[in-house]
This record gives sequence, structure tokens and C-alpha cells, in this order.
Amino acid sequence: MRILQDDAGTARTGLFIALEGGEGAGKTTQLRLLRDWLTEAGHDVVLTREPGGTEIGERIRTLLLEHGQGEVDPRTEALLFAASRAAHVAQRIRPAVAAGQLVLTDRFVDSSLAYQGAGRGLGVDAVARVNEWATAGLVPDLTVLLDVNPSVSRSRREARDGGRPGDRIESAEDAFHARLREAFLERAAAAPGRYLVLDGTQAPDAVHARIREAMEPMLDD
Ligand code: TYD
Repeated sequence: MRILQDDAGTARTGLFIALEGGEGAGKTTQLRLLRDWLTEAGHDVVLTREPGGTEIGERIRTLLLEHGQGEVDPRTEALLFAASRAAHVAQRIRPAVAAGQLVLTDRFVDSSLAYQGAGRGLGVDAVARVNEWATAGLVPDLTVLLDVNPSVSRSRREARDGGRPGDRIESAEDAFHARLREAFLERAAAAPGRYLVLDGTQAPDAVHARIREAMEPMLDD
């Protein structure tokens, strides 16, 4: 596999892949399919998620997602996501990629740009700056964006959760989810070489086949 240098000067021999999208886009299903395929092909796969992925990150995750925190100021929210991400990158992602592992993450920086930047109205550029610092410039080799419209994502989430109310962020109104969908699509359009945008309403096997197609050449390098 190829060896790259990233902004922090670390040699990278593995790969770093992010899955992004709104609620109910099918990220979890696709991550599992991807992990199984890559593992069967003999790759050393690390499956992880944000917020979370480290001990402190999982504690920040609880703070961020549970109800009962009172009102959470949007900048506080953005910084907590970035703090969880900084730990994730430093303690888990960079070491794994440097060791030649293939890291698959359920969400990364683009989720903050969409949810906090566009959704909460902090501005995508401001949130991007904070995250560039938090990650020391780490960018995924490929980001797979599973695109679904907000009403499909709400009904999928409700079906999954059996009518239970969503977590603090899932419970935001449809207009919020529409804003973040646009933000995800804009990010992908700005750097098409690093994104694979797929219709998340397609059958899971069809979506998986497209992801494999995109990843095969990266694995041959
Ligand atoms: P999770 O249960 O992992 O949801 P999903 O299965 O949809 O990924 O919860 C993560 C929630 O946190 C989700 O609503 C998106 C939100 N989030 C942000 O608002 N900003 C971020 O930077 C990240 C990583 C997640």
C-alpha cells in the first residue's frame, strides 16, 4: 500500500475512510458490509465512530447526545465534538493508519460542518477552522456520503427506534435536517475527487457495490 505524509508529517501506510450522511442514511449497514468485505480480503480493519472512539470521546458522546443538559450553547456543542475528534485522531486514527490499518469511521469533520456549521448556524468556515486545528489537518482518503432526504431519514429513524423519541440532536426539526443535507452535498461538490456521493435510498447491496467499486483501486496501490 502507498505511503503518504500528512500535514502533521506522519507517514501513512494504511487508509482512512469516513462515512457521512444524515440520520437513517444507512451508514451502519454499509460500515458493516464494508468491514466484512475488507476483512475477508485480508485487510486489518478498524471500525470506529464519532463522537467517540476513545475513552474520553465516549464520555463526551454521552454528554452530547443525552437529553437533560439544559440548553446547550452551539459553540459549546461544536467544541465538544471537536474535542472528541482531536482525541480520536491523535490516539486512534493516526496510529492505526501509520501502522497500515484500514480505518473506517462512522462520521468525521463533515458532520460538524453540516450539523454545527449549517444546522446550528455557526457557519461552515468557522467550524472548519476549529476542526482543522483539532485534527492537525487530517483528511480522509475517501468520504462516502450517503444522501437521503430528511423525510425518508425521519421515517427510517422512527422505524428503527420503534417510535421512541430521538436523541437530543436527532430531535431537531426537519428544516435543520434539510440544511445539513445541503451542507454535506456542498462539501462533496467542492472536492469531488475525495468524495463518493450515493443515493442512500437504494438497496443496501447496490450501495455496497458502488463503494467497493470506488475502493478497489485504492487497495491496489
Ligand atoms: P449517532 O447515534 O451516532 O447517530 P447516527 O447513527 O445518525 O450517526 O449520533 C451521532 C449524532 O451526533 C448524530 O445526530 C449526528 C451528531 N453529530 C454532530 O452533530 N456533529 C458531529 O460532529 C458528529 C460527529 C455527530
